[in-house]
Amino acid sequence: MSPSNVPATHREVRLASRPERALDSDHFVVAEVPLPQPGPGQVLVRNRLMSVAASLRTLMRGDAGMPMPSFEVGRPLSAPAVGEVVTAPEGGTLRPGDLVSHWAGFREYAVMEADAVQPVDLTVLPDPVAYLSQGPSAWIGVVRGAEVREGDTVFVSGAAGGLGTLAGQFARLRGAGRVIGSTSSQRKADYLIETLGYDAVVLRGAGPIEDQLRKAAPEGIDAVVDTVGGEQLQAALALARPGARVGLIGALSAQVSGENTAPVEIDVFSLILRGIQLRGVSGARHRDALAEYQETFGRWLREGSVTVPHARLSGIDQAPRALMELLEGHHIGTVVVEL
Ligand SMILES: NC(=O)c1ccc[n+]([C@@H]2O[C@H](COP(=O)([O-])OP(=O)(O)OC[C@H]3O[C@@H](n4cnc5c(N)ncnc54)[C@H](OP(=O)(O)O)[C@@H]3O)[C@@H](O)[C@H]2O)c1
Repeated sequence: MSPSNVPATHREVRLASRPERALDSDHFVVAEVPLPQPGPGQVLVRNRLMSVAASLRTLMRGDAGMPMPSFEVGRPLSAPAVGEVVTAPEGGTLRPGDLVSHWAGFREYAVMEADAVQPVDLTVLPDPVAYLSQGPSAWIGVVRGAEVREGDTVFVSGAAGGLGTLAGQFARLRGAGRVIGSTSSQRKADYLIETLGYDAVVLRGAGPIEDQLRKAAPEGIDAVVDTVGGEQLQAALALARPGARVGLIGALSAQVSGENTAPVEIDVFSLILRGIQLRGVSGARHRDALAEYQETFGRWLREGSVTVPHARLSGIDQAPRALMELLEGHHIGTVVVEL
């Protein structure tokens, strides 16, 4: 796209009001606004694809306590996006037509400082969707949180989500002997088993998770990638073998309803006796793991040993629906919107 082809206006999705409980369309407004003009040192990008994730629900609160600032009422939301450079500062490394990734999704065009965008190199990760995936967090959950080892029995909670669909595959490729997931429906469980190679799946809403997990892992669990918290974490801890590693990476059970605390009752005495290690992990604290992630994930994608399961919606006006449907559990994997 050349600068002469850019329109005078574009659309962006703004936060209309802060949600107290479940999200609905009244919390969003799609506004037609003048195209932002890049200043010195800034880049203008035509966004092509963005992703939504449960963490955006947390940022819609005023006091999210996340590493990035909460969204402001009346201002555009943001999310990971991939777009095409339209104009870039002279003398820099970016050129019109380059694909870049950044955090200014939920708008058709974005203006940012040139150093706020990262090149999308399809020779490293061969699919733009991979740049929008929860791959980095899944990697950190598996490698640093659960520290999956050869032959381990691994439990991934929230296995059909953006992070979980990748974490299960990563765990298997890191040598796990048995991979068990949790999800909410038989349709998703069948997908996890038949397409992603999970050995067993427990279903939330189909009886006590601990009983289901005991059947799925009669010998116990060595490593946990927990994206859910609540009853699922309690069940994983009950089944954890001596020395098990439990990576805490998400709290979907509280997050989807807008909570930003996720209390869980645990028997500390029992954890001490079994030497169980609970580790809170996040992308922000493990940036040093990301070079190995990119190299390994890219290789696995090119070999075809990993896929990025995703759902795709089309049009910026569908972005609010994408987030609401994600939180309601309609989709499997990463949810992307074509802009
Ligand atoms: N620490 C970090 O650096 C880091 C980085 C990225 C993400 N995270 C966190 O990791 C978690 C997973 O992220 P994600 O992007 O994979 O999530 P996601 O795909 O956005 O999560 C959506 C899924 O949550 C599940 N869900 C809905 N209600 C639930 C409930 N009441 N209990 C349990 N699960 C429920 C549904 O799956 P089912 O229908 O299958 O249950 C739904 O498809 C989130 O908490 C996110 O904030 C942390």
